[in-house]
Amino acid sequence: MDGSADASGVLEGTDIGSQKDRVVAEEEWLRKWETGSIWFHKERGHPLLQKYLDVLLNGRSGLRIFFPLCGKAVEMKWLADMGHSVVGVEVSEKALKEFFAEHSLPYCEEPVPEISGAKKLETTSGNIALYCCNIYDLSSYVSLMITLMEKNSSYLLVTVSYDPNKHKGPPFYVPESEIKSLFGNHCEIKCLQKVNDFSDKHRQWGLDYFLEVLYILKFD
Ligand SMILES: C[S@@+](CC[C@H](N)C(=O)[O-])C[C@H]1O[C@@H](n2cnc3c(N)ncnc32)[C@H](O)[C@@H]1O
Repeated sequence: MDGSADASGVLEGTDIGSQKDRVVAEEEWLRKWETGSIWFHKERGHPLLQKYLDVLLNGRSGLRIFFPLCGKAVEMKWLADMGHSVVGVEVSEKALKEFFAEHSLPYCEEPVPEISGAKKLETTSGNIALYCCNIYDLSSYVSLMITLMEKNSSYLLVTVSYDPNKHKGPPFYVPESEIKSLFGNHCEIKCLQKVNDFSDKHRQWGLDYFLEVLYILKFD
């Protein structure tokens, strides 16, 4: 299977097993950004977002697009350049400052009075607003996402799939059953593609397969 091959049908029903109660603390994410061990950042953007952008946009222009856990995702700049506005949330201020610096975007900073310690970093043109805070300070993640979704809105969600008994994460394995139980009462869930993303890094983690699974969640 190459990197673009469809891997549907592989591995449904794998149990999350030893990852069940594992969380990565805020400090650990901050440390990753401080030490530059940001293997999760894709300098050229995520190929699945590029491929399925039309599905997400569905012909609409001038959207307001939310990037939870945004890091310094380059897609935020692309979408702003296309005329959309972007709102992101990220716990690492370093990540957000790197985003503005790497794209030479002038920005201003202001506190968010409702959330202690939180800041909003916004381009001077106002089309990209990135909140530096823990997303759980806003609300619990899934209920927050559900409240943000308007009628006829779509949410592209990428998860990863591998044998969770062989690697403790992150990233964490999220089975389709979990997506259904979290979001299923609120929207239609469709798996768009499963892609083999296995690399040497995953082999070093002790894995023998690693898939990315892309869903579109449609809120009517
Ligand atoms: C998988 S990475 C996403 C990286 C991003 N796509 C990029 O290209 O930089 C997850 C990001 O979420 C941030 N994060 C993790 N937990 C968070 C939380 N509870 N609230 C806000 N940000 C969080 C991490 O610092 C990290 O940058």
